[in-house]
Amino acid sequence: MTTQELKKAFQETYGKLADAVYFAPGRVNLIGEHTDYNGGAVFPCALSFGTNLVIAKNDKKVMNFKSLNQPEIVTLNLDQLTTRLENSWVNYPLGVMAQFIKRGVKFTDGYDILIWGNVPNGAGLSSSAALEVVTAFALNDQLNAGFNRTDIALIGQKAEHEFALVNCGIMDQFVSANGAKDNAVHLNCDTLEFELVPVKLEGVKIVISNTHSPHKLDSGAYNQRVAECKKAVEQLNTVRPIKFLAELTEADFKEVESAITDPVAHKRARHVVGEVQRTSDAVKALKAGDITKFGKLMNASHVSLRDDYEVTGPELDCMAEEAWKIDGVIGSRMTGGGFGGCTVSLVKDEAIDTFIKQVGENYEKRIGIKPDFYIAEIGNGATRIE
Ligand code: GLA
Repeated sequence: MTTQELKKAFQETYGKLADAVYFAPGRVNLIGEHTDYNGGAVFPCALSFGTNLVIAKNDKKVMNFKSLNQPEIVTLNLDQLTTRLENSWVNYPLGVMAQFIKRGVKFTDGYDILIWGNVPNGAGLSSSAALEVVTAFALNDQLNAGFNRTDIALIGQKAEHEFALVNCGIMDQFVSANGAKDNAVHLNCDTLEFELVPVKLEGVKIVISNTHSPHKLDSGAYNQRVAECKKAVEQLNTVRPIKFLAELTEADFKEVESAITDPVAHKRARHVVGEVQRTSDAVKALKAGDITKFGKLMNASHVSLRDDYEVTGPELDCMAEEAWKIDGVIGSRMTGGGFGGCTVSLVKDEAIDTFIKQVGENYEKRIGIKPDFYIAEIGNGATRIE
């Protein structure tokens, strides 16, 4: 929808003019998967699609929430902003408000809010982070709360922990807040220092393939991986004091891995240590213009997520395998939390049509679901549009 259409929808919903329109993007992660909550690095890009928020103050001392994908307006009093709701999309913006309150911001006025997004839901492209970040960015601006973009990301992450009950890392919210057009964000998830790295892909595009798998990344499977990594750290602490798995190089890991007696925790840790190395190698390869090497590291990342981290599943594996068969595919892997969702592939321009046709047909033949393909455009982080 255009900004004009969004403002019109706002006026139709609330019978008055909008004060401002904001946007925050979804993301695709190029490499560095399940490393963020292990203190490692990630390498995502913000997408050109995301979530819009249209807002105006009201004089009724209530918060009104309306999503164009949902039928009803949800109304809450200003003293109801710190309690999560059961099964409601409102938990994402509400969770952000609760974090503002925790950080000392007072809501003395109510707001009318309208949300619209075009990140496919459940595709692992961070529609929820986009919603959290756009809410935090908008409220920060409206209330002059003085948070910076990193604070905004941290607020979004906490909202996800406490109101969506997913113990996620910082990657999604961070890149939604800090992304930059045509750049990937090389983020150290321990220190939150980051570097923007230009994604210069001569003759190559980033293709996102949506499996439309029914297996969603639910909080259960995700939180279990977080807990397994914690267990690996605890067992490693009997021989070496570390806070995060990402502190270990592959050589360090060889020396101490026998301390992880739990076989599942051991596999998880092996993925994380390897993925941290791959991410660092991939960033170097991209900077050196060695896209072939970058692609190989993407493939290795998928294999490790499949065999050691066990977050792929038949749909993501099929999509990656079919991509690997195509001439002109430089690399392909699952992206995001896993289980269902999307793969990300680097594909030569001249191979894109074949890619979409062949991978599409073969995936549908094997899995029985028609996939979708998007050519990714790398966009900016959260912004006020009007
Ligand atoms: C989800 C989480 C992120 C990150 C990825 C896996 O997207 O929200 O914090 O852990 O999974 O890399």
